[in-house]
Order: sequence, then C-alpha cells, then structure tokens
Amino acid sequence: MASTASTAPIRPARRATEQEQTTNSVIDPSARVHPTADLEADVQVGPGTAIWHRAQIRRGARIGAECIVGRDAFIDEEVQIGDRVKIQNAALVYHGVTVEDGVFIGPNAILTNDRYPRAITSSGELARAADWQVSPITLRTGASIGAGAVVVAGVDVGRFAMVGAGAVVTRSVPDYALVAGNPARRLGWVCACGARLVDPATGAPAPAEPEPGAEFRCPSCERRYSYVPDPEALLEQSPVTGRGGPA
Ligand SMILES: CC(C)(COP(=O)(O)OP(=O)(O)OC[C@H]1O[C@@H](n2cnc3c(N)ncnc32)[C@H](O)[C@@H]1OP(=O)(O)O)[C@@H](O)C(=O)NCCC(=O)NCCS
Repeated sequence: MASTASTAPIRPARRATEQEQTTNSVIDPSARVHPTADLEADVQVGPGTAIWHRAQIRRGARIGAECIVGRDAFIDEEVQIGDRVKIQNAALVYHGVTVEDGVFIGPNAILTNDRYPRAITSSGELARAADWQVSPITLRTGASIGAGAVVVAGVDVGRFAMVGAGAVVTRSVPDYALVAGNPARRLGWVCACGARLVDPATGAPAPAEPEPGAEFRCPSCERRYSYVPDPEALLEQSPVTGRGGPA
C-alpha cells in the first residue's frame, strides 16, 4: 500500500497547458500529471511529483518535489505540501492543512478543518467560506497518518509521529509518538525509521508514559532517544551514520 498508488501508466512529463499558464499555475516539466487529474488555477507542482487518476488539486495549492498524490485524492485550496510526501488514494486534505516534508498520508485518511462545522448559518442561509472557522492542522516532517484515520481540526502531528489505521486524532501528537484508536491514545513511541522503540535493558516496548529521562533504542536501526516530558518530546541522542535515514 505504501508504494505507488497504482500500476497503470501515467502521463509522462508535460508542458503547462495554455490555461495553466494564464492562471499562474506552475507545473514543473518533470512532474507527471494524469490526464484525468483536475488542477485548478494558481497551483504549483514541484519536480518529479506524480499526480494520479482523478486527483483534485484546488486553487492555490502548492505541492513540492518528488511527491505522490494518489488516485482520487483531494487537496483543498491553498494547502501547502512539502517535498517527498506520499498522499495515498482518496485521502482528503482540507484547507488549513500544512504538510511538511516526508509525510505519509494513508488511503482514505481525512484531515479536517472546522471543529464545529455547520452547513447553514444560524439564520438558515447556506454557510459561505467566511462562515467557516478554520483550525489549522500541521503534519510535521516525517509523520505518518494511517489508513482511514481522521485528524480533527486544530491539532499538530509531530515529527516522525505515527497515527494508527482508523484513528480519530483529537489532540496534538508529540514527536515520535505512536497513537491509535478513537479517540487516539498513545500506545508507545516509534523511531524515525518507523520501528517501535524499546527499553534498551529489557527489550520491552517503550511505555506510553515513560519516566522523565527514560532512554529508548530502535531495534531496527539502533538510533537512541531520551524522553523529555516538558515540552513533551523524544530527543534523538546519537544519529546513526551510514544508514541513509533522515538528517
Ligand atoms: C498502530 C500500529 C502501527 C500498531 O502496530 P503494532 O506496533 O504492531 O501494534 P500491535 O499490533 O502489537 O497492537 C498493540 C495494541 O494496539 C492495538 N492496535 C493496533 N493498531 C491499532 C489501531 N490502528 N487502532 C486501534 N488499536 C490498535 C492492538 O489491538 C493491540 O491492543 P491489545 O494490546 O489490547 O491487544 C498499526 O496497527 C497500524 O495501525 N499501522 C498503520 C497501518 C496503515 O494504515 N498503513 C497505511 C499504508 S497502506
């Protein structure tokens, strides 16, 4: 699931259409945009990015380099998406969401934008854009959002945090935290590589609520972290050399 959105061929690099040129869209010539994708005005798409079947990219959205936008994905107005982001099939990314570099958004995940939505005003008229109270969401570098998860408006998902499949995230998630369920609760902690962190002495999974200063190890790539409760975070202690991985 986490690889490409489909195996069907997509259109190779193309020049911006006349319409895109007149509407200030900037589509890098190396980007691949499927003919059925719907790109509105003022959209930017960076080099090497692929946009698959029937994806809708709304006005003013900006998508960085080497991203994948899956089939039927929806990117709302002015959404900002960094580099090397994977947005899987049918994910919905609404106005007010910022996606930093290297984020994974699973299939059918929903990133919302109004915590108390209404279709109509209190006088019964159709609610317009100005009637919406947008509470922004930021997905920090390297975070992963599981398939079918819902992120409620107004929360941040920290660096390299991981949200389980089907979770409903109602509170901000610290860096490297692993959360799941409805409402999402912390199960433990994950490494930048994605593996669950363990107690270096016992090999047991890092607890959801560690003691201040507790140290954890990644059994997969050997990165080490220590728990800092205020502000709550994991700090990476010793970068691993020679394994690729994030800087
Ligand atoms: C959250 C997740 C990372 C946990 O994986 P894990 O570390 O192997 O966890 P385990 O399977 O050992 O489960 C630990 C506990 O959490 C529960 N749990 C696991 N995933 C859960 C989820 N998504 N929602 C609710 N509870 C979950 C398990 O039932 C188990 O509970 P128990 O201890 O009461 O039996 C994984 O289940 C998940 O959801 N990954 C996202 C997958 C995804 O969406 N991929 C998208 C690409 S297609």
